[in-house]
Amino acid sequence: MNARDSKLARHQALIDGHFVEASDGRSFEVTNPADGTLVARVADCTAADAEVAIHAAHAAFPAWRALTARDRTRLLRKWCELVMRHQDELGDLLAREQGKPRAEARAEIAYGASYIEWFAEEARRIYGDVVPAPVAGREVLVLKEPVGVTAAITPWNFPSAMVARKIAPALAVGCTCVVKPAAETPLSALALGALAKEAGIPAGVLNILPTSRTEEVGLVLTTHPLVRKISFTGSTAVGRKIMRQGAETIKKVSLELGGNAPFIVFDDADLDAAVKGAIGSKFRNSGQTCVCANRFLVQAGIYDAFANKLAEAAAASRVGPAFEPGVQQGPLISQKALAKVEALVADALGKGARALTGGARHPRGGTFYQPTVLVEVPAEAQLLEEEIFGPVAPLVRFETEEEAIRLANASEYGLAAYFFSRDIGRVWRVARAIEAGLVGVNEGVISAVEAPFGGVKQSGIGREGSRYGTEEYLDLKYVCMGGL
Ligand code: SIN
Repeated sequence: MNARDSKLARHQALIDGHFVEASDGRSFEVTNPADGTLVARVADCTAADAEVAIHAAHAAFPAWRALTARDRTRLLRKWCELVMRHQDELGDLLAREQGKPRAEARAEIAYGASYIEWFAEEARRIYGDVVPAPVAGREVLVLKEPVGVTAAITPWNFPSAMVARKIAPALAVGCTCVVKPAAETPLSALALGALAKEAGIPAGVLNILPTSRTEEVGLVLTTHPLVRKISFTGSTAVGRKIMRQGAETIKKVSLELGGNAPFIVFDDADLDAAVKGAIGSKFRNSGQTCVCANRFLVQAGIYDAFANKLAEAAAASRVGPAFEPGVQQGPLISQKALAKVEALVADALGKGARALTGGARHPRGGTFYQPTVLVEVPAEAQLLEEEIFGPVAPLVRFETEEEAIRLANASEYGLAAYFFSRDIGRVWRVARAIEAGLVGVNEGVISAVEAPFGGVKQSGIGREGSRYGTEEYLDLKYVCMGGL
């Protein structure tokens, strides 16, 4: 099936309940990263379109927040049902624009739907407080209220799930939204918009602006006085800029930024479990997730055995386009991404690292890169400091627990961290000592709607998912009732 044949493949912006062209009629190309073929031409929204969308969201806010939580729950549930009913179609659309294997793309749709379902349920649990008053004849109340219009700027690595993860809590608590999906992957967001409309979510509550004019549209979203909150997933550099731009109008911000996740394997680890966890953590989405293991710190006694087993498992991974049966690893998103991975590997090899497997582009060409395991990676290698965002596992040897913790925390980032050990005392010590928002102990893939997702240090601010996820979209109001 061609993307043009799917009723969910929408090529126009969703503004105030209508699918519309960009105001200046321009469009841009969305291509399949596996082979560069055209997937669709999509409306290229302008700053003026962003302005219209923000006003639509602002106009829709009073009625949307005035609905009962139960009514919003019903609408979100309906939306979730529609998403799951179209899981295969949405997954195929996603695989076409993003490149990840079909099974992984379909799993992402279910992952995104889990956020809609969760926040549909949470909508009815936004409790305030009645606090013992300091003065007789008074009542002290704390109310939770939706912040208003929110802007979501979403990434290409999870084009559906990250949109759902941001919009669902916002809508659940009564906020309205304007979304700017990544230029590489706008179709999944637009398809979610089409289903939200079909579910009965009113006009203006959810607006989606595909655009290649990222700076221009981003500037409106981050500086407009009617936008009260921005949620962004992407690089730390862009996160800093968004925070600066939002500062002028004192916006609330949630930033889910870069990481440099350590993956520590202690001598006492279950070797097979560590290798399985490493494959999941490192090679999921071709290594293009913010929580992918970026540095493998392996204790001397288990180093060779772990390295060899990991290299064997990585080499066995089937690389190819999304729709080829049995494919486990897709292409990288772009030539630019490929060039970055190549440069980081060349730097490490040039400084003395050795490739146990991979270390080069894949013979399939395009933006495919071989699953790679590098050993004896020296401390000066750039890829130990930078987010690789590719299927490359660099291994560093360490001797003691203290050294592992020191190396793990020697980063400006603090999103995810993983470690494998069967010593219960060590498990507690290391879990406490690690500076990260998410810690996987004897597990390599830990994201789940039930748990808070977000980083410390320069990996971000705020949490998504879990019962804490709604707080990002709420203001507290203290009401002092006197004269009682
Ligand atoms: C991300 O890479 O930003 C999200 C990954 C996840 O939810 O596991």
